[in-house]
Amino acid sequence: MSPQRTLSIIKPDGVAQGNVGDILKRFEEKEFQIKALKMLLLSPQQAAGFYAVHRERSFFPDLVRYMSSGTVVVVVLEAPEVVARLRELMGATDPKQAAEGTLRRLYATSIEKNVVHGSDSRESARKEIHYFFSDSELPE
Ligand code: CMP
Repeated sequence: MSPQRTLSIIKPDGVAQGNVGDILKRFEEKEFQIKALKMLLLSPQQAAGFYAVHRERSFFPDLVRYMSSGTVVVVVLEAPEVVARLRELMGATDPKQAAEGTLRRLYATSIEKNVVHGSDSRESARKEIHYFFSDSELPE
């Protein structure tokens, strides 16, 4: 099966709680290759642009505030079927619904502060990777 790429974000709560190392290790244990990685403090405008698809939702202002409240780690991962496999590893958006052993079940404290993001489709992955990384920052 040919490899895919996806974008993950370790969110401000994951960074503040000291979960970065554990989460990256979990990616590597699944044989997701880390192809690019940055630590960033998003401006409210950058966070709003990234989550523009949710702009009509009631939680959008809180989401933008939260995502720009502290540093995040943005990561490009590559593996066969990585879009779906990352979503499985993360667990449900609401940590109360997330399966045992998933990242959100282990580390998330609320539906907003849910530790980690993963692209929801190959098309979103392409857009989200290019939101944070230029072509010259991405290996072939
Ligand atoms: P993520 O998978 O990054 O995609 C959109 C984010 O919005 C989601 O994770 C949560 O952080 C947040 N979110 C989704 N639904 C809600 C909700 N009902 N209330 C608050 N935040 C939400």
